[in-house]
Amino acid sequence: MASRFAPLVRSAARRCVVARPALVSQTPVTLRALHDGPPRRNKPGSHSQTDSDIEIPFPPEDELPSEPVRRAGGQYVKPTLQTFSLDKNVGLVTGGARGLGLVIAQGMVYSGADVALVDMNKEEAEKQTKILVEAFMRENPNAERVPKVTAHFSDVSDPASVDACIAEVIEQHGKIDNLVTSAGFTENYEAVNYPIDRLRKLWAVNVDGTYLFATSVARHLMERKAPGSMVLIGSMSGSIVNVPQPQTPYNVSKAGVRHLASSLAVEWADANIRVNCLSPGYMMTALTAKILDENPELKKKWVSLIPMGKMGDPSDLMGPVIFLLSENSKYVNGIDLRVDGGYTLT
Ligand SMILES: NC(=O)c1ccc[n+]([C@@H]2O[C@H](COP(=O)([O-])OP(=O)(O)OC[C@H]3O[C@@H](n4cnc5c(N)ncnc54)[C@H](O)[C@@H]3O)[C@@H](O)[C@H]2O)c1
Repeated sequence: MASRFAPLVRSAARRCVVARPALVSQTPVTLRALHDGPPRRNKPGSHSQTDSDIEIPFPPEDELPSEPVRRAGGQYVKPTLQTFSLDKNVGLVTGGARGLGLVIAQGMVYSGADVALVDMNKEEAEKQTKILVEAFMRENPNAERVPKVTAHFSDVSDPASVDACIAEVIEQHGKIDNLVTSAGFTENYEAVNYPIDRLRKLWAVNVDGTYLFATSVARHLMERKAPGSMVLIGSMSGSIVNVPQPQTPYNVSKAGVRHLASSLAVEWADANIRVNCLSPGYMMTALTAKILDENPELKKKWVSLIPMGKMGDPSDLMGPVIFLLSENSKYVNGIDLRVDGGYTLT
């Protein structure tokens, strides 16, 4: 099942990369041939328009960096509310091999949870399980128990793959209490030139994938008559329109994730299953850093629009996610928690 999607992403990305090596460039790109629309220039206004020259395809898998954050974590070092602990919980994180999902999983492990890293890139997830456990042991040499961290394959857009993955996680961990859906991706093409197959893939991963995991985990919790908490990773793009890069299908997908969380929260409130959305702003993951290194002007523009004057660090999401998963938020349901340095306020 990995092979069905991965080559599609890779070949599409390679086509684009070959056509346009620099991520932002002034020359026409072969992808336009699909719809053949000329770039639309000379739009009025300057600071609040998308720019048709910005096209950022998703890079090939082997160019994607992955590493957990380096920072002091540790339980029980300083007094804190015990209700922040996820001890004895089992959490499943989609997109857990890399980027925000990996750092969120690290926060869950540091909070005592057993964690299943679910990703299309199982090899990378497997590597990260060892790194996360080693990091936990370094930070908590006296911990009574070491969280169990496992890696699992799933293409989140494929229902059969999702069911098989959930069954495997339950087999290895006995249960699932918490879900974080971080698998997702973005690309930048103006809407009139967005290839329809890419648009369908994007919605299948970002929306269907979130829906499939949320409903499968909810069925499991309902069968167990157990409470649960889910955090669906949306984006500030679900509420605002980013500039200058055009990304309409992504924005739509994230608006879908945001309202999916609210709708499921209402449907499952009686079953004591809470569903909240967490919407990051611009976060400096290794992948974002790579894109911005090649586009310093884009970074300048983004930062100029953030009231706090800086991009977020992936570790900034740890606390908010743990809050939403833990008992501390037991009366918080269906919200969209924006972690964006104030971007959406202005
Ligand atoms: N990085 C940001 O600034 C930012 C901002 C707002 C929202 N987000 C959202 O956060 C989430 C994570 O983003 P990221 O920056 O960490 O991205 P990333 O590309 O670094 O990581 C995404 C992970 O999802 C996996 N994945 C992709 N498609 C999959 C599929 N079909 N099945 C299973 N796994 C799949 C990838 O293999 C990868 O490990 C995404 O939903 C993204 O839209 C990111």
